[in-house]
Amino acid sequence: MTRMRFSITGVMCVCFAMSLRVCSAASPKFSSLALSTMHVKYGIQQWGEPHALNGDNFVVAGQTFATGVATAASSRVTVRLYGGAHVLTGSAAIDDHAAANASAVFSIWSGKTRLWTSAIMHRGDVPVSFSLNVSRAHEVTLKADRHDGNAFNCRCDWLNTTFTYHGRPPFIVDHPANWRNQFVPGAVWRDTNGVPFHAHGGGLLYYHGTWYWVGEDKSQGYNNTVGVHEYSSRDLVHWNDEGVVLPAASLPEEFRSKGVCERPKIVYNRLSNVFLMWMHLDAHRYAVARAGIATATKPAGPYRYVTSMRPINNSTFRDMNLFVDTDGGGYVIYAAENNATLYIVRLDSTYGAPRVPEMEGTTWARIAAGGYHEAPVIWHYGPVYYLLASHTSGWYPNAASLFTASTPLGPWTYRGNPFIGADSELTFYTQSTCVIPAPGHPGWFVYMGDRWNPQDLGNSRYVWLPFHINKGSDSFSIAWRSHWSLGGLDKQLKP
Ligand code: DGJ
Repeated sequence: MTRMRFSITGVMCVCFAMSLRVCSAASPKFSSLALSTMHVKYGIQQWGEPHALNGDNFVVAGQTFATGVATAASSRVTVRLYGGAHVLTGSAAIDDHAAANASAVFSIWSGKTRLWTSAIMHRGDVPVSFSLNVSRAHEVTLKADRHDGNAFNCRCDWLNTTFTYHGRPPFIVDHPANWRNQFVPGAVWRDTNGVPFHAHGGGLLYYHGTWYWVGEDKSQGYNNTVGVHEYSSRDLVHWNDEGVVLPAASLPEEFRSKGVCERPKIVYNRLSNVFLMWMHLDAHRYAVARAGIATATKPAGPYRYVTSMRPINNSTFRDMNLFVDTDGGGYVIYAAENNATLYIVRLDSTYGAPRVPEMEGTTWARIAAGGYHEAPVIWHYGPVYYLLASHTSGWYPNAASLFTASTPLGPWTYRGNPFIGADSELTFYTQSTCVIPAPGHPGWFVYMGDRWNPQDLGNSRYVWLPFHINKGSDSFSIAWRSHWSLGGLDKQLKP
């Protein structure tokens, strides 16, 4: 069996400020590679995010934030092991960029058992090395505890820290122990098997106490070679893999291999007790632009392809979403007229077709004609209906647009870009895909966005951010959060 190496290199920071800007990686061997994958694209480094694959070396850097200089702040990264012979070697030091008075104690743990600890390290000390047999550990945690509580910046480096193993590679547990139940926007997010999600351009359905998340499986790249993947969760943080619920192979030939299946969404029809999935189906180069419809008798499928169509006047159908109003009325909203104009169309009672006879202004409406919007999302709160959409720039981010109305068919009024702060004009490098009410927190909502990686779509990320709406208001703002939890919403985050 091949022996492989899994390396942690770079920086664990205990920073006073909640800055998201990147700490420099410290290993001369891997730092330039790490920077090129992270910084070039987004300029944001998240805790435990893999940085680069370098042969058999899986290179990562971790970063934590602690507020308050006098706290006993520590930074940590936890790695899960899967048996096989694991040897852990490396060294640790205070980073050259740390404050002059920075000092810390490094330690390595298996659960509550300390396997190794350093002396108190100061900036400028030579790195201290370790070599440990961790073959009996399930998870190994690397910790750096700040020793001088007054050091403003105490960056701590794990240099060439490497697990040598057989078989299944170790992986970074993205949520350190003290971040359990936290959302970490943009970080690698894994299902309960430890596998990164594939639910891009996705949507959520809440049904009988469980959330269902469907989205594009791009593990094989851009084309629809896999299909629609689904996950389920009771708390929105931990997701079980429900598998591929609409396999690409079950769709007509033109919508797979060279075609695409984008932005699938599911709704439940109370009258028929059927779950419906709508999606944007397209051929090579987005040439046919049609709506696809599939149905299932259970929320987690399997879904069976029914048909494809263009709901209105044979106009193109691309980025889409579904909306079910409180009165049970179903709507599909999509980029029509070659993406120049959004259409919203009332569905019939089955949710499987437009309501007929079709009549503009009565059963369907044009929104922001000529405005070139994509990625539409509709929801409502109190008397106001909200529509969030991106502009059109392929897989690259742009500024979002908010519209409000008093009925789903409008008229819709433009309300500007609700994102605020640095990178808000790029929607924090995301594109909208879904908004849900935050469970148990009236007035709070969760924005779900895709952070596409245009060079490697399968390696795109998810950014979920909370925001608050004052009932009846025509505006709200969405700010960046490096991490957050549902439980903390009411206390800390209200803008
Ligand atoms: C942006 C859309 O929102 C995506 O769903 C996808 O269609 C890309 N454009 C393709 O460039």
